[in-house]
Amino acid sequence: MKIVLTGFMTAGKTTVAKIIAAKKNYKFYDSDQLIEAKEKMTIKEIFKLKGEKYFRKIEKEIIMNLLKTKKNLVLATGGGSIINKELRNLILEQSESFCLDLSPEAVLKREKKSKIQRPLLAGNNKLNKVKKLLAKRKKYYQQIPIHFDSETNSAIEIADLILAELP
Ligand code: S3P
Repeated sequence: MKIVLTGFMTAGKTTVAKIIAAKKNYKFYDSDQLIEAKEKMTIKEIFKLKGEKYFRKIEKEIIMNLLKTKKNLVLATGGGSIINKELRNLILEQSESFCLDLSPEAVLKREKKSKIQRPLLAGNNKLNKVKKLLAKRKKYYQQIPIHFDSETNSAIEIADLILAELP
């Protein structure tokens, strides 16, 4: 079974995916970590040196390859992977997919504390940036069949809720 976690930046996809993978004894993958390993650069450096378009190309290739070649896995996707139609359809067709939701205000709070540098949230006017991106992506996240609120549930709770939904 392939379990794919989607949702906006800082929703906790990686943490939840790791818990599910440990409980199911499946392999854990994080698309951003795979991209960084392949490119030998941080996400921030890839955006800066090669641009977002290049990042999206690698992101698509890596996720598609995983979904096409692996049998059992838990994958935490980058929050923007959902915008690619082909990738979105593959996720919907090939996996048990879940979306973790949170408010723009929560994104801001978590981003401040996070060690991960997210190029799309760099600079000023962060709340505006988050709101705009979320508004743009809402229709894509909505296509994911099952959603959990990542503000009112802990990562362990979400992992258990997802495990309870699996066929
Ligand atoms: C992005 C989300 C990030 C990372 C990149 C772009 C996005 O991953 O892929 O900074 O476009 O939403 P997380 O969702 O793990 O933060």
